[in-house]
Amino acid sequence: MSGSHTPPSGSARLNTGVAHNARVWNYWIGGKDNYEVDQRVGEHVASIIPVIRDIARADRDFLGRAVTHLTREHGVRQFLDIGTGLPTADNTHEIAQRIAPDARIVYVDNDPIVLVHARTLLTGSGEGATDYIDADVRDPDAIVTRAAATLDMTRPVAVMMLGILNFVLDTGEARDIVRRIMAAVAPGSFLVLTHPTFDAEVGGEMQVPAMEFWNENATPPITARGAADITAFFEGLELIEPGLVSCSQWHATSDHAVVVPQYGAVAVKP
Ligand SMILES: C[S@@+](CC[C@H](N)C(=O)[O-])C[C@H]1O[C@@H](n2cnc3c(N)ncnc32)[C@H](O)[C@@H]1O
Repeated sequence: MSGSHTPPSGSARLNTGVAHNARVWNYWIGGKDNYEVDQRVGEHVASIIPVIRDIARADRDFLGRAVTHLTREHGVRQFLDIGTGLPTADNTHEIAQRIAPDARIVYVDNDPIVLVHARTLLTGSGEGATDYIDADVRDPDAIVTRAAATLDMTRPVAVMMLGILNFVLDTGEARDIVRRIMAAVAPGSFLVLTHPTFDAEVGGEMQVPAMEFWNENATPPITARGAADITAFFEGLELIEPGLVSCSQWHATSDHAVVVPQYGAVAVKP
């Protein structure tokens, strides 16, 4: 409302007439926080690219393995999870605080339905802390400033950017966002990233018509990137083993992980 300094609440901003990524993603991973329009678009995308549910599942499983690995093996106790998505089973704070109850997690998303459900993300362990910031990833400086109310920026933070840079269509802008956020966190911090691709090596060709359909029928608009562009997001950081791979294969617990056209990688800030 003009003249008001209070941003509209999540429910006031909800648009149930157009499919939204957070809700369709929730539909693909078997959640209930979605509307008929999201189910229709989600089903149509699945008819074009039948592995879309495998992609969404593989991405969430990667999140679980990456948070577990960083908490357990690298002693990370702070997470900045940008592009959180709707709460589901095993959110970042639940995984981290199961291992380290004192872990502190800040979630960031700009979708009104995620804001509506955000309280589910704020029920962390008594020893740790969780917070939720309603913000756009295109405003990295504001995100870092607000996150500093909960996170100690002099200590390492794992910056999680899973399935979100694909909504920043300009590659230069996406790189600048990553650069600014990683510049603001302490040495020893990590960047955890997943990103869809058209690369044929991981079966990405089938994403072309699916993303065309998405961009004509849903929001926000999406793009895919090749391995070289995604690797460039890690400039100045050191990729940890096994580097950039199909996210299903990153520290996979089975030799039979199905390859998906969604890259995943984790890197440390020296
Ligand atoms: C594909 S989902 C990924 C959810 C979760 N990170 C995961 O990997 O399961 C992408 C999320 O990014 C959010 N998102 C998209 N564009 C955004 C933007 N410009 N700023 C903040 N969040 C955004 C969407 O609302 C959605 O919740």
